Amino acid sequence: MNLLHVDNITVSFDGFKAVNALSFDIETTELRAIIGPNGAGKTTFMDIVTGKTRPDSGDVRWGVNGVSLLRKSEAQIAQLGIGRKFQKPTVFETQTVYDNLLMALSNNRNPFSVLVYKQNSKDDEKIQNIATQINLNEKMDILAGELSHGQKQWLEIGMLLAQNPKLLLIDEPAAGMTAPERALTVRLLRELALSRAVVVVEHDMEFIRQLECRVTVLHEGAVLAEGQIDFVTQNQEVIEVYLGR
Ligand SMILES: Nc1ncnc2c1ncn2[C@@H]1O[C@H](COP(=O)(O)OP(=O)(O)OP(=O)(O)O)[C@@H](O)[C@H]1O
Ligand SMILES: [Mg+2]
Repeated sequence: MNLLHVDNITVSFDGFKAVNALSFDIETTELRAIIGPNGAGKTTFMDIVTGKTRPDSGDVRWGVNGVSLLRKSEAQIAQLGIGRKFQKPTVFETQTVYDNLLMALSNNRNPFSVLVYKQNSKDDEKIQNIATQINLNEKMDILAGELSHGQKQWLEIGMLLAQNPKLLLIDEPAAGMTAPERALTVRLLRELALSRAVVVVEHDMEFIRQLECRVTVLHEGAVLAEGQIDFVTQNQEVIEVYLGR
């Protein structure tokens, strides 16, 4: 069943079509990689789904009822269960890993909300579970500012998980990660996609290969090819516009 239905969306910036009649679907539980050259419209696609950018035409439909996301605010879209991770992690550096997760759980990314939020044992259990999943269960008392870049990325993913998203949009997670961190991130994303949809934009082809998922290749704002990694990497057009550069 489709969770997200992107239907013929176009968006122009000063007459330049950053996204051009783009259509594709994301299933309820699936891991999907989006690749393509710089400026292909990958981030703009995420901006549209999250309500940050409004398309000129087309529609984005969500869930079994196919509600249009285009008339919803960014906050409403987040409430529906769409979480987004930007390239640069935005964690509270002066707070511990535990408190960052607690803040995310209290649904208010304001460091002071933790002071008034009434914590219960269920929260503690949930924080422990998330921390284990993101490989930070032994770093709970460490200040987020002392984590490595990769660990900060995981913490931010953990903060998104606290909101139980149905769809996670993740832009270039591997950038700046060490090889072991990349391997753990592959494992994490594959695991997360067993119970939700996860869409990953990434340039690192080795990383993409290890995700072992369906790959959508964007070029000039539209889908150029789609399929398993070996299928798309053998596509002549994909080689010409992206891989062979
Ligand atoms: N807010 C904006 N105003 C004007 N132009 C924009 C805006 N956002 C994106 N663009 C342009 O739209 C095109 C698509 O950009 P986008 O960021 O979606 O590409 P991308 O596929 O994410 O590329 P990269 O791999 O470099 O991150 C680019 O030419 C970009 O300059
Ligand atoms: Mg981008």
